[in-house]
Amino acid sequence: MKTLIRHAQVVLPHETASVSVLVENGKIAAIDAAAHTTADEIVDARGLHLIPGVIDDQVHFREPGLTHKEDLYTASRACAKGGVTTFLEMPNTNPTTTSVAALHDKLALAASKCLVNYGFYIGATTTNVAELAHAHRTPGIKIFIGSSTGNMLVDEQAALEAIFAETTLPICAHCEDETTVRENSAKFAGTTNVADHSKIRDHRAAVIATKRAIDLAHRHNHRFHVLHVSTADEVPLLADHRKLITAEACPHHLLFSIDDYARLGTLVQMNPSLKTKDDCRGLWQGLQDGLIQVIATDHAPHTLEEKQKPYSPDHGGSPSGLPAVENSLALMLNEVNQGRCTLQQVVHWMCDAPARVWDIVDKGRIAVGYDADLVLVDLQKTAEVRNETQETKSRWTPWHGVTLTGWPVRTWVMGQEVFRDGQIHANIRGSEARFDHARGGYWST
Ligand code: DOR
Repeated sequence: MKTLIRHAQVVLPHETASVSVLVENGKIAAIDAAAHTTADEIVDARGLHLIPGVIDDQVHFREPGLTHKEDLYTASRACAKGGVTTFLEMPNTNPTTTSVAALHDKLALAASKCLVNYGFYIGATTTNVAELAHAHRTPGIKIFIGSSTGNMLVDEQAALEAIFAETTLPICAHCEDETTVRENSAKFAGTTNVADHSKIRDHRAAVIATKRAIDLAHRHNHRFHVLHVSTADEVPLLADHRKLITAEACPHHLLFSIDDYARLGTLVQMNPSLKTKDDCRGLWQGLQDGLIQVIATDHAPHTLEEKQKPYSPDHGGSPSGLPAVENSLALMLNEVNQGRCTLQQVVHWMCDAPARVWDIVDKGRIAVGYDADLVLVDLQKTAEVRNETQETKSRWTPWHGVTLTGWPVRTWVMGQEVFRDGQIHANIRGSEARFDHARGGYWST
């Protein structure tokens, strides 16, 4: 099967050019294929931009065990619609993905259910370092250095030292200091005001934990990715002369601030918490300066009923997290249209950089020999985000009612069309992402 995409503005690694792209057997076979005028399908993409499929390196898809919130099928439908062609999923499911056997079970489930490509982290516990040391077929190890949804906290120093010392896979972590969060929670015991969430999970908690994790990475000479940076104060900590550290920002921390609690309440309760507008500006600056390399969603769906429970600093209240995988690309394309960044930067942050951080083979770029994970975007298309049109199982979004300009309109996964003009092709299945950790990560490539 040959598909020729013509007349698009194509975002290539170093330029955007009006070239045609030939796709054959799931791969990008030729670029500027002027000689190729025949194909099984010719796509006239006049007026559109062709970009590599988005790689979302932090999602929580809830299967196995929490499938009333989301499952791999519904989440991957949302990915197809949102222009996300590969996702890397977190281990706080039930059972947790903290053994090689559980990792392989998830991979088998995904093969039968996922419309897009997939990979799964293996989660750290205080006692599973042997499993972590032997795992492969994974982007890396996830540590909850601060507690969040699920029961996966690892914050004892000895356990952290062992994980960094005795494993070789890249590590990423949720960085919020548990001691600080507990002390702050005690001060706000009994509160039902969700704005207190940002006083409990405050700046200090984020900065202390990020510093601690980076120190571990440096002492053990271990590659480390800081998930969902939320404060301007963490950004200077990411300056990396030893080529070990990379970092991620999420659309919600870039686009919402504590001022949004008044309007959106617990819908914008997440961990790490929202911070101030100055922090949003600091994160944008971090992206511009290359100190933060990746934008990913931390897609963390809960049902609307769960989110509408009153806020409580203890467990049992409204849970933290929000769905975003379906809208993240459109949100960033809208920022391009607002003049806040360029399309090339969005492609770097959402496609190329995550592929390099996690050593994903043949993904993240439009280049000959790479996988034909491709998205056509219409930078002129304007549409309103609506709860009722969400594919994600929880069917709500904090961006409900927001009008965005710039949308994905067609998605291919390994050369197979999976989404076009509102229609999802549910019969398409993605493939297991391959990781070649010998490449050495973002700074080596
Ligand atoms: O708000 C969050 N929710 N942050 C996380 O790190 C986990 C996530 C979840 O799984 O619900």
